Amino acid sequence: MPEIFTTAFGSYPLQRYPRPTGSADKQQPLRAWDAADEYLLQWLHQQGLPRTAAATLIVNDSFGALTVSLSHTPLWSQSDSVLAQLGCRANLAANAIPADDIQLLDSLQAPTAAIELALVKIPKSLALLEDQLYRLRPLLSPGAKVVGAGMTKTIHNSTLQLFARVLGPTHTSLAQKKARLIFCQPAPQDWRGDSPYPSYYALENTELTLCNHAAVFSRAGLDIGSRFLLQNLPDLGATREIIDLGCGNGVLGLMAKRQWPGLHCHFYDESHMAIASARHNIEAAFGSTAGCEFSVNDCLRGVPANSADAILNNPPFHQQQVVGDHIAWQMFRDSHRVLRRGGLLCVVGNRHLGYHSKLQRLFGNCEVSASNRKFVILQARK
Ligand SMILES: C[S@@+](CC[C@H](N)C(=O)[O-])C[C@H]1O[C@@H](n2cnc3c(N)ncnc32)[C@H](O)[C@@H]1O
Repeated sequence: MPEIFTTAFGSYPLQRYPRPTGSADKQQPLRAWDAADEYLLQWLHQQGLPRTAAATLIVNDSFGALTVSLSHTPLWSQSDSVLAQLGCRANLAANAIPADDIQLLDSLQAPTAAIELALVKIPKSLALLEDQLYRLRPLLSPGAKVVGAGMTKTIHNSTLQLFARVLGPTHTSLAQKKARLIFCQPAPQDWRGDSPYPSYYALENTELTLCNHAAVFSRAGLDIGSRFLLQNLPDLGATREIIDLGCGNGVLGLMAKRQWPGLHCHFYDESHMAIASARHNIEAAFGSTAGCEFSVNDCLRGVPANSADAILNNPPFHQQQVVGDHIAWQMFRDSHRVLRRGGLLCVVGNRHLGYHSKLQRLFGNCEVSASNRKFVILQARK
């Protein structure tokens, strides 16, 4: 059942996305908003903001709590996460707000009007925040206000310094229910420099340089788990359709395709910046994206059953602010559905995460094909 989010702007039934189900989600908070959303909306209402017809941009709304509450104003809502976008759409629909009235943008798209008020939920990643603040610069109309909101655990001195360095003078509110607001007055006359993102690193043992947008996992260098998987790739010589699930910058699918050029590889990630990076890296490595497809998706939602021969996967252990193995579980369940009979799921994981027993339960088999002190490579066949 949705809970009711009550603010000075109205009361709205809201749900998280994905909807919490089953035991894996019992630990997770169930509300689709946090105290920072409440604080921000309370402050906006006291200030008489957004002013009528003022173009407002919301950045990083988790499940649409801000977007739904402020839908009476001309609104753009931007997020890197397809899960956040799916949550926002579902909550707009549940509140009978036509999604066409709101411009839902991904993290690489810009609003088509000058912005008078930008509301930024503070993301976990300082790199993503930095990139987002740089992206705001050319969008702001003269005199525009930028207001940040986050739980105190996500707001540090470095967060405030970043606002001040990239946009202009910044101060914070008092804390309320462990949430804080950030007030920033953009000072374009003092703006120097550009976003350092996307950033690039040289991929070891190759001539390749990989592009990484700000939100991409392990964007400064190859992750040690991914390296171990690359050193122990299964033989995909007789394979046709593979999936790089949770692809990040696409390094797993890219290296598989380098070794077996006949492979058709579909890259999936829930981050728009990850998918953009993977696409860029494939094009740079092979001169075209032929034989590859790229999709933002929640795991393998909507992918036809029995359609892939092999899946490579380095699962995440958090999604937005929520830590746990529930996403790995979903990825394994989806993989089992999407693989053809005889198809192979190959997973790298920290030894202590216990993926082996999960895969054994789902697939009825699971082999450790390689291990070191930290990681195991697991192979399960449908
Ligand atoms: C541990 S990283 C691995 C990235 C890349 N495969 C590598 O080895 O460097 C896990 C990836 O899963 C993605 N992810 C998280 N939740 C997801 C979901 N629900 N659906 C699809 N991808 C997701 C993250 O954005 C991240 O890129």
